[in-house]
Amino acid sequence: MAQKTVYFIEGDGIGPEVWGAARPVIDGAVQKAYGKSNKLVWEELLAGQKAFKEVGEYLPQATMDVLAGAELAMKGPLGTPVGKGFRSLNVTMRQAFDLYACIRPIRYFDGIESPVKHPEKVDMVVFRENTEDVYAGIEYASGTPEAKRLIDFLRSELKADVDAAAGIGIKPMTERASKRLVEKAIRYALDQKRSSVTLVHKGNIMKFTEGAFMNWGYEVAREKFADEVMTEAELETGAKPVVIKDRIADAMFQAVLQAPQDYDIIATTNLNGDYISDALAAQVGGLGLAPGVNKSDTLSLYEATHGTAPTIAGRDKANPGSLILSGAMLLEDIGWHEAADSIRGAVNKAIAAKRVTVDLAMQISGAETVGCKEFGEILLANL
Ligand code: NAI
Repeated sequence: MAQKTVYFIEGDGIGPEVWGAARPVIDGAVQKAYGKSNKLVWEELLAGQKAFKEVGEYLPQATMDVLAGAELAMKGPLGTPVGKGFRSLNVTMRQAFDLYACIRPIRYFDGIESPVKHPEKVDMVVFRENTEDVYAGIEYASGTPEAKRLIDFLRSELKADVDAAAGIGIKPMTERASKRLVEKAIRYALDQKRSSVTLVHKGNIMKFTEGAFMNWGYEVAREKFADEVMTEAELETGAKPVVIKDRIADAMFQAVLQAPQDYDIIATTNLNGDYISDALAAQVGGLGLAPGVNKSDTLSLYEATHGTAPTIAGRDKANPGSLILSGAMLLEDIGWHEAADSIRGAVNKAIAAKRVTVDLAMQISGAETVGCKEFGEILLANL
């Protein structure tokens, strides 16, 4: 019998509802594909509000200890206060476990009315660097002693023209983190027989961080994949499986709207990746169906890519699709392809039958709105 342990964090807001709908679908797909011979063993870990209520901490050490030795985990959304309060638990976990690659496949599900004319042309996978950039958490509020000290240093030692009243954030980016992210993206492109990897950056303005990311990306491509990749300049004369392109982030936001068929795998920095993965998800019908995973070299943490949706929490309205499709990514990664295909097929079928949660129903004319729980039951029946 093939058994895999998956640690799971329920999450805040709509977290418990989407889990309640998602787990039976993921288990059902495994059972449907392999009967009793394959099984996922679920073990709950505490984090967020539930952890705070039960043990008085948002991210208990016990959870961190288990995740440190884990291979597979899944999480619902965790709330983060804006502009005050504790640091994002998501960011803390990404950094603590060195989950350096955030991977989000974005493709269209037939039948959803998208804001663009040809959403079916979108079939991309975003590899977002997950540990550095302005997410490093080195930020000081305007007027604090730390901000003043840093500004004094910048003005006096480096002759930088910084307003003494500014709030200050730091954007550290390294060769090591940039190269390992781009390497992972290129390996994925080769494994999955995709045709290009585009390095997305804002290097025209931030030369030594964003621009360096692009240079390091090309360097690792040359150093490790010389026989398998080529640049756009070499396209006319060469015939290697993967083309490495680069695009400035603002131009890329236009390009994915105007010519999405020209882009395949995107490798990018942390902040750009955050923006572009949500923008692409919107292009194909929203966050409710966007799966994702955060990976280190040992741990894969699959997640619902949306947040806690506080306005609909507890109202049986949330779409569990993001978590369910993240489950399909997990099954794909452990080689249980039939179960993963069955989940994606079940989602296609529910959309074709126009029986979906409200967020999708708003994008499908004539659709019947069903609750979170019922949507899960429909998917289970469709497997
Ligand atoms: P959000 O993703 O929670 O909500 C944005 C919009 O999408 C809202 O209109 C919401 O109702 C809707 N929505 C989100 N998920 C949905 C679903 N599954 N089904 C139907 N509709 C859905 O983003 P927001 O409002 O910016 O953040 C709320 C909280 O979530 C914040 O505390 C934020 O820090 C946290 N958050 C956590 C994430 C994570 O754990 N990975 C990711 C994004 C936000």
